Amino acid sequence: MTVIVTGGAGFIGSNFIFYTLKNHPGYRVICLDKLTYAGNLSTLKDVMDKPNFKFVKADICDREAVYALFESEKPDVVVNFAAESHVDRSIESPDVFLRTNIIGASVLMDACRKFDTERFHQVSTDEVYGDLPIDRPDLFFTEETLLHTSSPYSSSKASADLLALAYHRTYGLPVTISRCSNNYGPYHFPEKLIPLMIANALNDKPLPVYGRGENIRDWLYVEDHCKAIDLILQKGRVGEVYNIGGHNEMRNIDIVKIILKELGKPESLITFVADRKGHDLRYAIDPAKIHGELGWLPETKFADGIKKTIKWYLENRSWWEEIISGEYTDYYDKMYSNR
Ligand code: NAD
Ligand code: DAU
Repeated sequence: MTVIVTGGAGFIGSNFIFYTLKNHPGYRVICLDKLTYAGNLSTLKDVMDKPNFKFVKADICDREAVYALFESEKPDVVVNFAAESHVDRSIESPDVFLRTNIIGASVLMDACRKFDTERFHQVSTDEVYGDLPIDRPDLFFTEETLLHTSSPYSSSKASADLLALAYHRTYGLPVTISRCSNNYGPYHFPEKLIPLMIANALNDKPLPVYGRGENIRDWLYVEDHCKAIDLILQKGRVGEVYNIGGHNEMRNIDIVKIILKELGKPESLITFVADRKGHDLRYAIDPAKIHGELGWLPETKFADGIKKTIKWYLENRSWWEEIISGEYTDYYDKMYSNR
């Protein structure tokens, strides 16, 4: 079994590679990644020398490079994690989101058609459903919820989902789609809420909470997401969408307070800043389908997962300190100074 994992030098893709190599030692895993600002080769250092692993630097929008890779490797399965993934960046510059997240996905699907790949799995997001009201805790996103996006990021992801379903119906391409809630865990790029707050707290810098911190996200430990995708690849039905989430809704402000408490830092570091434009209020996944059909359930409770995550950031300071000392400082200044 040969699996191409695109975007495998990023947060979830790298965790998926570790999960797959550990649980399916007989598989060959090829990571295709452009190494944008969010991709990091050092993340893959422990698997780089494995005989059944290979890294290829390429852009998923580069049709020639993608076809050449498919020609030589003849993948059985392609799992597409490659994307521009940060909502705030999409609000600043949508173009690259449309290119990578839509055109890139279509190039990969064309390659799957051309080389008769047995499965194309599109890693999508709960953000394609838009948001839910904060005062209606009885409402959840199901696979039937209408697509209703808020940001250029979520619109680009929804576009790729529609293309994947169209490739299935029109060309019979064997696609599956998963829409997951917010992930956290090791190797999460420090522009995102949890690692940003951990890094700032450790450096005694202000913790910039958007608005009043009342927005709600549904957090899932990254390994549980990887396990769900693996199950979909093994037992999922082609042409189907599977929501992934573990009923773990939390307000941003409460997450930030948990991080401060765990690190023994004062709440006076919390700074309320201008809200994100178009900020989604609440995400909440109904995972009944993946539970009922595939038997998936999350294994890591948030109380344990956040402790493990903080411990990882404490023990791997060089990984994130190198990131936040580079071009990231320009990004941080642009997004947060005078906010
Ligand atoms: P990330 O930003 O950490 O990593 C993205 C990876 O894709 C990087 O390694 C980057 O170099 C690579 N990449 C970007 N553009 C590329 C291109 N044109 N060609 C090849 N490689 C390219 O993202 P992440 O948080 O790991 O998210 C992975 C996927 O999961 C994305 O598709 C995202 O939409 C989806 N997702 C993320 C979350 C979350 O909470 N992070 C939740 C649900 C779904
Ligand atoms: O729901 C899945 C999505 O989760 C994925 O599709 C995205 O790729 C991923 O980035 C994530 O999107 P969010 O926008 O929810 O994640 P982010 O970490 O950027 O923000 C989480 C919440 O925290 C959100 O309500 C905005 C808020 N926030 C974020 C940052 C970076 C702050 O209050 N301050 C911050 O500095």
